[in-house]
Amino acid sequence: MFIMANPVLTEIQKLRDEINHHNYLYYVLNQPSIADAEYDRLFKRLVELEKTYPQFSAPDSPTQRVGAPVENLGRTVLHDMPMLSLDNAFTEEEVLEFDQRVRKVIPGEAVEYVVEPKYDGVSASLIYENGLLIQGATRGDGVRGEDVTANLRTIQTIPLKLRSRGNSEEPFPPRVDIRGEVLMTRGVFKQINQAQAKNGLPLFANPRNAASGSLRQLDPAVTVKRRLHFFAWGVGKVEGSQFRTQMEILKQLKAWGFKTSPEITLSSSIQSAIQRQHEIGTKRREMDFEIDGVVLKVNQIAYHGELGETARHPRWGLAYKFKSAQMTTRIKKIEVQVGRTGILTPVAILEPVQIGGVTVSRATLHTEGEVFEKNIMEGDMVFIERAGDVIPEVVKAVVEKRTGSETPFQMPRNCPVCGSEVEKEGAYSYCINLSCPAQIQGKIVHLASRKGFEITGLGEKKAEQLFKNGLLKDLADVFYLKKENLVGLPGWEEKSAQNLIDEIEKAKKVSFIRFLYSLSIRGVGSSVSKLLSHHYDSLDSLEKATAEDLTAIHGIGPEIADNIVHFFREPRNKKTISLILMGGVEIRYEPVQKGGIWKGKKMVITGPFKSFSREELTGRIEREGGSAASSVSSKTDFVVAGENPGSKLARAKELGVKILTEEEFLEMERGENPY
Ligand code: IVH
Repeated sequence: MFIMANPVLTEIQKLRDEINHHNYLYYVLNQPSIADAEYDRLFKRLVELEKTYPQFSAPDSPTQRVGAPVENLGRTVLHDMPMLSLDNAFTEEEVLEFDQRVRKVIPGEAVEYVVEPKYDGVSASLIYENGLLIQGATRGDGVRGEDVTANLRTIQTIPLKLRSRGNSEEPFPPRVDIRGEVLMTRGVFKQINQAQAKNGLPLFANPRNAASGSLRQLDPAVTVKRRLHFFAWGVGKVEGSQFRTQMEILKQLKAWGFKTSPEITLSSSIQSAIQRQHEIGTKRREMDFEIDGVVLKVNQIAYHGELGETARHPRWGLAYKFKSAQMTTRIKKIEVQVGRTGILTPVAILEPVQIGGVTVSRATLHTEGEVFEKNIMEGDMVFIERAGDVIPEVVKAVVEKRTGSETPFQMPRNCPVCGSEVEKEGAYSYCINLSCPAQIQGKIVHLASRKGFEITGLGEKKAEQLFKNGLLKDLADVFYLKKENLVGLPGWEEKSAQNLIDEIEKAKKVSFIRFLYSLSIRGVGSSVSKLLSHHYDSLDSLEKATAEDLTAIHGIGPEIADNIVHFFREPRNKKTISLILMGGVEIRYEPVQKGGIWKGKKMVITGPFKSFSREELTGRIEREGGSAASSVSSKTDFVVAGENPGSKLARAKELGVKILTEEEFLEMERGENPY
């Protein structure tokens, strides 16, 4: 049958294509080909037609960028593939070491490096299904990000619909995750701060913070005024395509209509990559956007798999940062801080100074050795450097400005907090007293923190107060606190005391990851805890692990392995752990990843789901070693039930098969569920 095309729809589609094309020329290529008035005429005509014929409205129309305000932010989404970060290098030596590590894994092969500007913005992941933008999220903790789709849609350099199919006649990938950086120009940043000042509002410290604040608005009509930009730098998971090189990925991103930096080049040696960093560095001040270094990426994707990743960083890429802003100021005195693992850190207390829009009044000196090496004394004028979010550092003393009244620093022989002996271990000095108040308070705060047991109401101040009152003498005491002991202390009433007790009670069912994180084992943060929880199915088995067993885990080096073994051997730690468990703490273990979380599991899925399509869910199960069957039987291990489950759910209930909600499935995927 011959179907006549509707002439209105044809005109609408033609207008949309034309407008999208002009947007592309204007925003992405900076090469407009029509006058503003002509563009406005096309746009107006499209708005009119869509208003008169609402049956032809479409979410990917260029008129649909600014939607209605959202009720709340904070809905999180699971990234198809984690968004890792890059390891940093500040010196040529570090870059050469990186190259050597790469060559060790890929001996004899010609390694090429793509050199890209390292945009100083907010990273985002954009999901396109069959060419249409369906979701946009921030990086978040790398595993889950915040859904900011409505605000990302306002950015003109983010196509609502991918532009072309590149070189092939293939359709768009069924699902593709495009990654890049959301940025604000220096010019817009200045204007926005002027407006903030005029309205008596707080100023943004830098364009990155301003971009981040703009992405987290409830009303996209505000975000659109911030005129944000998006530069694409890579892809996450792509269904149905295979890229051979990073250069190919960048070419495809361009073809799909994204902006990529014109400064990107390919180097066939590490020396030329270093050279490029210097070149780009000389131009950075003239650029519209802030960049804080370059990113070096091994071009050949096949090598990425071979190089692998540490717990946090891929080994195929490196951020080679520019030397950052420096200022001079005076060190008033050098204090020694005691951390929760007993490390003593000299800290310079400074006459406050502004660096890159932030007031700095303390800077770390790291170790005693470093203070000597840099020849730094109390009273010295010094250069202070602040690189991005990194803790400010003292670079060097201005020796010419010395008056003779400066005093050399000496690491105390005794802990400044408890007076116990200080021991040196390599470059570091430690307070050897495991009952040192600074250590215990620090450990308690760490245990209660967001990545630990997440006990709201037990922050630094409260931990210090309860320690001083003798209620928290050890980590385990947290789980023995009683309401009656709290009530009556300054700042504690019936209600606040009950709240804390309730919080603690709630926190007692804890995942293995959080439990391990909370123990304050040196070098064991959230990523190492996660690795451990995926390789050991109980605390018992981890306690028995040797350093050799531990280093066999990809991402755990000999030093951390040693720390873990020593930690579990120490009788005091053993006692604390058993007291914690006797206090009612119940550890929820993760399914051990021997070949995948769902290894050997028979699953049945019954949707629809909020965070993924059925196909995607099947893929996720299969990738982790499970299988997805179509009907429930007594052999089924789990039924994953979505929003509108039908007869499969009833059947599962009848047979007593375990049912997982979408949330529970995601928790298990992250290794946080009790089953
Ligand atoms: S590639 C595995 N390329 O820097 C991560 N990142 O610490 C691969 N960034 O989170 C990242 N410009 O937000 C890459 N050209 C670029 C980048 C870039 C900025 C950010 C990104 C990432 C962070 C790395």
